[in-house]
Amino acid sequence: MLFTEKAYGKLNLALDVLGKRPDGYHDMRMIMQSVDFYDTVTVQTETGTGWQFDCYREKDARRDVFPQNEKNLAWRAAEIFCRAAGVKMDNLSVTICKRIPTQAGMAGGSSDAAAVLRALNRACGAPFSVTALCNLAEQVGSDVPYCVLGGTALAEGRGEILTALTPLPEVYFVVCMPDFAVSTPELFAAIDQSRVASHPDIDAMLQAIAQGNVAEIGNRMGNVFQILVERDHPVVSCICRMLLACGACGAQMTGTGSVVFGMFSDLEDAKAAREAVQAYASEIFLAKPV
Ligand code: C5P
Repeated sequence: MLFTEKAYGKLNLALDVLGKRPDGYHDMRMIMQSVDFYDTVTVQTETGTGWQFDCYREKDARRDVFPQNEKNLAWRAAEIFCRAAGVKMDNLSVTICKRIPTQAGMAGGSSDAAAVLRALNRACGAPFSVTALCNLAEQVGSDVPYCVLGGTALAEGRGEILTALTPLPEVYFVVCMPDFAVSTPELFAAIDQSRVASHPDIDAMLQAIAQGNVAEIGNRMGNVFQILVERDHPVVSCICRMLLACGACGAQMTGTGSVVFGMFSDLEDAKAAREAVQAYASEIFLAKPV
């Protein structure tokens, strides 16, 4: 049997780091939003051909840029699921067709892992509730529980304490991948060394989302990692300025970067912005909340 899931990319409408915890992780407050740009994850059970794993990039079919073993979060998700469900999947095939840029702050790897959990849960007749699946997801990675749920959500703790929020009104995102990648653990280490001068007002953002006030959501956007990345990569602020000049309600980096996005209430403005920042991006696309 074949089970296919869309693994949506995520953007951070706001991201705050509250402090370092005794377990080495950081307490966070983040506003997450999934977008209709996705990897396709296919899980096939009872193949009769053993355990197979194939993760490739759609645009050039490259496989060497992704781990094809237990270092891949999607592989770990499959192992954790099978152990928890008490099923022995000797004949399992997982195929991941990747479109979401990697090391980009869009949770591509976490989203693939979440899609594997959802697909295996379907394949096994739904032994886990959504809450139980989120608990399993937490063992795979901090962003994976959110990726199981998707939508507009507040993520707290390591990222695993989730509150679903009112979906966004109709907006368009111009999502722009500059020509550099960022290491998440390195940025978390760097933030410990720096004094964070300005934190986004997450409570004001929650209020703006509850009211469906797009202009105010744009005003309240903020990401404490951005200033650290901008020091070495001024292209980040340059893209943000251009997106704002093209009419974005807000523009910033997502996660630990390097993707930068602008949020637009007008589709034509978003299309014009996509053209305007083209030269600064190795990849660029238009997306909507999902
Ligand atoms: O949980 P995950 O394996 O995705 O986290 C990757 C790395 O990001 C961790 O090893 C840690 O350095 C950092 N991290 C953190 N605090 C979080 C989430 C991630 O310090 N809340």
